[in-house]
Amino acid sequence: MPPVISVAMPETSGSYADRRLGAIGRARELSVLWLDQRKDVPGRARTLLAELQASTAEMEAALGSALAAKDILVVGPGQQLLEMAYFGVRNQVTGIDLDVIPQHPSALEYLHMLRSNGGIRTLKTVGRKLTGFDQTFRRELERQAGAAMPRDLPVVAMDAGAMTFADQSFDCVFSHSCFEHLTDPEAVMRQIGRVLRPGGLAYISVHLFTSDSGCHDVRIFANRREAIPPWSQLRPQFKDRVQPNSYLNEIRLDRWRALFTSRWPGVAFRFRPDQDPARVRQLHELRAAGELGEYADEELLNIDLVAEWVKPG
Ligand SMILES: C[S@@+](CC[C@H](N)C(=O)[O-])C[C@H]1O[C@@H](n2cnc3c(N)ncnc32)[C@H](O)[C@@H]1O
Repeated sequence: MPPVISVAMPETSGSYADRRLGAIGRARELSVLWLDQRKDVPGRARTLLAELQASTAEMEAALGSALAAKDILVVGPGQQLLEMAYFGVRNQVTGIDLDVIPQHPSALEYLHMLRSNGGIRTLKTVGRKLTGFDQTFRRELERQAGAAMPRDLPVVAMDAGAMTFADQSFDCVFSHSCFEHLTDPEAVMRQIGRVLRPGGLAYISVHLFTSDSGCHDVRIFANRREAIPPWSQLRPQFKDRVQPNSYLNEIRLDRWRALFTSRWPGVAFRFRPDQDPARVRQLHELRAAGELGEYADEELLNIDLVAEWVKPG
């Protein structure tokens, strides 16, 4: 891992997942997560692996070289560190996350997590570890990838908007489903530009708030849609039903494009479309009923916006 100059994390920073859901909302969230995470582990691992392989191919095309023996920074790897494990097979990988991420069954690590990230985040992580979910999923991912993935990964608790790595420390910065949680994405883009080497690649995937699942209500991820009609967060009559599981900046597509382009001239964009075959028909019906008129199809029917930028040499 490149040297960290200093880590300026407050003792109790809270977690991006701290949301006031109330006791019933939180219990519902946990039970949905519990049931969902046990379902179809091979299928979920296959989907994740396909996504990571597609990202790798796109990163290699942008870099003009194989994604091997590179210094890669993963911004916001999350509690399971799966992206770091995957890239770490062929590269030196470092992660930074606002949350403390325990990697050993150590009371001290969990105490640190509790103090830093609060009870809900800690409870979710302990639950997944105790039930063996994380280990089972990681093993399945390794089996399908045909490679043992590194453990004991170098993750630092650090705010991506105030990184403490030296300039030009990395060949690549990867981030998936983190930017929509940032309070100040411009500060993070500035930091990424600083820590990348000339010719290095930023590969940032943002889950669009305006996509059907962009409100981060776990019932959508678990396909329990009874109480949440499509795009509820954008429809005044259903907005109150939505229970986001984390802080969301609610930035829309045009603003993302403007932010990335002004900070990183020449940045290229791609979309990851919503694969649900019902979605286009649902949108057609809603438009016919006079709803969602102020949103463009591309911000409703794409789940992720991917920004790729090569730092000029
Ligand atoms: C939804 S999770 C994404 C995890 C993983 N990348 C994935 O796609 O499954 C977002 C992660 O970003 C982290 N995060 C949010 N704000 C951050 C910040 N300012 N600096 C570093 N990490 C941050 C959160 O703690 C969380 O672990």
